[in-house]
Amino acid sequence: MSDFVRVASLSEIPDPGKKLVEVDDALVVLFRVGGQFYCLDDVCTHDGGPLGEGRLTGYEIHCPRHGARFDIRSGKVLSMPATEDTRAHEVKVEGDAVYVRLNE
Ligand code: FES
Repeated sequence: MSDFVRVASLSEIPDPGKKLVEVDDALVVLFRVGGQFYCLDDVCTHDGGPLGEGRLTGYEIHCPRHGARFDIRSGKVLSMPATEDTRAHEVKVEGDAVYVRLNE
């Protein structure tokens, strides 16, 4: 299992908001909603759309390509045309720093 990697400081991410970050050569999207942080692959499971460029409403991210929605808390797919969940990763906050650990 990979280690936690520092990806941002708290002040870099508005609430609600998101930021594209790189962890171990993978692009992932860090979300901040309601004071909590979440992290998903920057990949829509429909056709690889960049979720980091999507619109965030509540706990849902809308794929900018064809509009599939995913729950940012779990990566669970919520609407067509995607039918598979995207991968969620672990996030922790220590002091002013935000860390992500990739789930394999
Ligand atoms: S690539 Fe995301 S909905 Fe098609």
